[in-house]
Amino acid sequence: MSILFTRILGTGSYLPDQIRTNADLEKMVDTSDEWIIERTGISERRIAAPYETVTYMGAEAAKKALEAANISADEIDLVICATTTAEYAFPSAACEISGILGMTDTPAFDLAAACAGFSYGYALAHSMILSGACKKVLIVAADIMSHACDPTDRSTIILFGDGAAACVLGESEEEGTIAVHISADAKYGPLLNLAYPKRGVAVQDHLWLYMKGNEVFKHAVLVLSDLVSETLKKGNIDSSQLDYLVPHQANLRIITATARRLKLDMSHVIVTLDKQGNTSAPSVGLALDEGIRSGKIKRGDILLMESFGGGFTWGSALIRY
Ligand code: UT7
Repeated sequence: MSILFTRILGTGSYLPDQIRTNADLEKMVDTSDEWIIERTGISERRIAAPYETVTYMGAEAAKKALEAANISADEIDLVICATTTAEYAFPSAACEISGILGMTDTPAFDLAAACAGFSYGYALAHSMILSGACKKVLIVAADIMSHACDPTDRSTIILFGDGAAACVLGESEEEGTIAVHISADAKYGPLLNLAYPKRGVAVQDHLWLYMKGNEVFKHAVLVLSDLVSETLKKGNIDSSQLDYLVPHQANLRIITATARRLKLDMSHVIVTLDKQGNTSAPSVGLALDEGIRSGKIKRGDILLMESFGGGFTWGSALIRY
């Protein structure tokens, strides 16, 4: 029997305990709580302690997703970890997470798509299940962006936070995933980039995350506007049928622009960035898990997830939860 559909079986997330508020940032760089809230919508973000690595946070989120799905790790056929800030090139974070979960014979690999990581992971998992190669895929997304930002650069340090999200996608007889889309355009790479740390180079000499914020902002609004329209069209769904937009949490002004485009009231948008900042790859997964666990998102709801990041990369998933 060929597999017709995929659906979300469970989600999970992990956030470090340590909170960095706008007041903390006022002591680090020349900024103000008013500026940050007005220009971004962010009030605080979580900062990973040394033990809270990409692998650790990813594994914790994965355990919660497996628990929510009510399945054991040995039922998973593939582990994907979307990250650009893992400790090692290899073993990959996905391999390490599979080890923590007790898997000994399951394929696992990392995926680098910056802030679009969760959407890329979701689209890939969906295809792997539809192809018949897998029945259940564990998508993990985790990043420690606070380590990537120059602590003296007020244009980036105020935006980013750390965390992890996970989602188990499984084959289904009922429709779950309606449409997915992923894409990239390398010509904008120079506007937003992060070099790998170099061996033998002092920490202070590493290249920090670079972002031409206002340029990225303009492109994000345009790309996301097209992306949400195209994804709805592909899924033959009208925006009035949407229960929730689950957007990438980069900037509240970008989120409201996308909601406006969809003619969606903000009560139908999951917003977590006020408390989390931009966590990069896990951002959409964190918002999804928060929406589900808070009771806002219910089984049967139609959701549109979207994200945009360095590369540029972007992706979406239109689903019936
Ligand atoms: O997730 C991946 C994709 N990333 C994004 O989508 C991020 C997109 N970009 C943004 O969210 C916004 O561009 C920022 C929040 C980064 C910046 O906001 P903006 O409204 O685009 O400001 P701007 O970069 O045009 O800068 C305006 C002014 C500048 O001062 P002058 O030149 O006008 O005197 C900046 O130096 O704001 C200044 N500024 C700050 N002032 C206080 C920049 N950062 C700060 C700050 N506090 N933290």
